Amino acid sequence: MDRIRIRGGNELHGIIPISGAKNAALPLMIASLLTDDTLTLENVPHLADVEQLIRILGNHGADISVNGRRERQGESYARTVHFTSRNIVDTTAPYELVSKMRASFWVIGPLLAREGKARVSLPGGCAIGTRPVDLFIEGLSALGARIEIDGGYINAAAPEGGLIGARYVFPKVSVGATHVLMMAATLARGTTVIGNAAREPEVVDLANCLNAMGAKITGAGTSTITIEGVTSLSGARHRVLPDRIETGTYAMAVAMAGGDVVLEGTDAALLDTALEAIRRAGAEITPTEGGIRVRRNGGGIKPVDIVTDPFPGFPTDLQAQFMGLMTRSNGVSHITETIFENRFMHVQELARLGARISLSGQTAKIEGVARLKGAPVMATDLRASVSLVIAGLVAEGDTMVSRVYHLDRGFERLEEKLTRCGAEVERVSD
Ligand code: UD1
Repeated sequence: MDRIRIRGGNELHGIIPISGAKNAALPLMIASLLTDDTLTLENVPHLADVEQLIRILGNHGADISVNGRRERQGESYARTVHFTSRNIVDTTAPYELVSKMRASFWVIGPLLAREGKARVSLPGGCAIGTRPVDLFIEGLSALGARIEIDGGYINAAAPEGGLIGARYVFPKVSVGATHVLMMAATLARGTTVIGNAAREPEVVDLANCLNAMGAKITGAGTSTITIEGVTSLSGARHRVLPDRIETGTYAMAVAMAGGDVVLEGTDAALLDTALEAIRRAGAEITPTEGGIRVRRNGGGIKPVDIVTDPFPGFPTDLQAQFMGLMTRSNGVSHITETIFENRFMHVQELARLGARISLSGQTAKIEGVARLKGAPVMATDLRASVSLVIAGLVAEGDTMVSRVYHLDRGFERLEEKLTRCGAEVERVSD
């Protein structure tokens, strides 16, 4: 199994190209099931989760081709992928496929809307909490679906004549349930109004793509989304938006290691709250044409308290990385996680590098230390694993991160991107 070795101590200087967003690419790919026409997505990142979803969509009957011509984007390669689901050959998403990635559960929306039925295994994904599916069930039921759980599967059936538009207010903000309800409602009869919808940029990206396919969606990006049902959707061409989590991660890596890096092909407006926190920690952040420049020269890292929240709050997907950064601050900081109840698994791994962190309920208290020391550590989930890389960039000696398949799910060419900026990061295959 692969491991990543980081030898700490180098500043980062250069350019890091930012990939298309994993969390936008996944729902966009799933939306291709809503039409028998071809949906072409540009700027699709090359990640294990994307490959896994390609297998899942293929199982439903999608014909998928990756464009031979690769689009040069800095030093990285974005891909253009064509998805054509002329016929849905299977409305079952089996456990063997869905258990590997939670987002694959979202196929329930398009399958139900287009085929009137779906049998989808209850999901797996990162072990960062119980992650139930009650909001999906409630939302789809509001559109008239009959849903029952049987042997680890959700069986969903639309009423005769298809789903029916309705008004539904989520009791809690959920990105995935917003994606699914929005997709399902595009082909429902009548108008659907979703209240307390997620406002994440990825929801807006999905709505833009669905509108390009002929859907009638307004309000995405606010907490009320209105969808006027249409009878069918067509193909479209859409470019996946930049990955704000990858952007924030590298911004924190530069804040940690010091140096001067331009993050290319991204947009500061996607992560205002996180960039503000990094600024307060002592980095200089300036928008450039088509990117962001991050610098930290000389000065130390200041302690900053943060609380995770749904967008536009501080993203939970950057919490672990920010904790990595705070381990070297020159004071005491607090990080409160409000989205997932079990998202502090990186704490004990960071402690192995010498970090001083104590937990009290959903809040971590981080006492900054003057030095971290390399050690073998284990990746526990996708975002936690990259916090160890960030810490490793300044730890003395070697940090060896095992279980890097977590990293490969969400970070494209991580070691290459960091190495080109002067870090000593290498993949070791046993
Ligand atoms: C998405 C992101 C993930 C991010 C998360 C929160 C993708 C592929 N994944 O995950 O990276 O960390 O948003 O920003 O886009 N919940 C329920 N019942 C439900 C559904 C969710 O209680 O039916 C809870 C979850 O347990 C969690 C909270 O709602 O506590 C938010 O989860 P949600 O926004 O649904 O996360 P995902 O869509 O799974």
